[in-house]
Amino acid sequence: MAIKHQKISMGRHTLVNTHFLSNANGSFFDEQYWRKKQAVVGQATGRGTTLFVQHAPDTCWVLRHYRRGGVIAKLIDDQFLYTGLAKTRPFQEMRLLNTMQAAGLKVPSPVAAQVTRRGMIYRADLITLKIDNAQDLHHVLTQQPATDLLWYDVGQAIRKMHNLGVYHHDLNIRNIMVDDNQTVWIIDFDRCYQRSGESWKAKNLDRLYRSLQKERARCPSFFWQQEDFEALLQGYQQQPKTASAVR
Ligand SMILES: Nc1ncnc2c1ncn2[C@@H]1O[C@H](COP(=O)(O)OP(=O)(O)O)[C@@H](O)[C@H]1O
Ligand SMILES: [Mg+2]
Repeated sequence: MAIKHQKISMGRHTLVNTHFLSNANGSFFDEQYWRKKQAVVGQATGRGTTLFVQHAPDTCWVLRHYRRGGVIAKLIDDQFLYTGLAKTRPFQEMRLLNTMQAAGLKVPSPVAAQVTRRGMIYRADLITLKIDNAQDLHHVLTQQPATDLLWYDVGQAIRKMHNLGVYHHDLNIRNIMVDDNQTVWIIDFDRCYQRSGESWKAKNLDRLYRSLQKERARCPSFFWQQEDFEALLQGYQQQPKTASAVR
């Protein structure tokens, strides 16, 4: 797939995946546009609000406005320091999603991104294709346990991502999704990047482990136990068969 850069005005740039769109209509990034059309079909609250919008009868998009997390978020909610277009969060996330898709990984398809710059700061938005009939693993585990096979597949999905050298900045169960074919998807690649070396990989897994422990401490009925992580590690340790996923 090809990604096209468009300069819309002095401070406004878009990236468009030409597989889905020839031009990015600026309104696509505007929440009010979708609300007026009554095309908002759902939302998820994480750091900010992620909107699910119906672009066409058979196409649902996920629209995310980049926001900061943590204490600083209260002060400068959605503004980031501009150090060049290629270094902006959405440009990096689009490019990375593109690379991972080309390698056959199960990640959302990037549709379009927007950067609005004013002087030294920018705001940004990203549109991806909604993964059909999927729920994040956190939601699943509040309802029922996952099978060993699913945990194994989660391990394989992470291994494929790591084989490509992709570090996930926020690897937790809300960023892992499962569809109704039991296919595992990894999402939310804000601030993720390809890096060399090995030591960060174990730390990445450890973060996921701690997030699971934390959830269970918070909610004792949360369907997760130590053995589940062993099934995940078995999946992680097995070299994936698909040649394209191996560096
Ligand atoms: N492409 C997608 N398809 C389906 N659901 C998604 C998709 N992207 C995000 N979601 C849902 O929205 C939630 C928040 O999105 P995410 O990209 O993780 O943003 P953040 O964590 O920064 O708020 C996810 O946990 C997931 O439930
Ligand atoms: Mg997330």
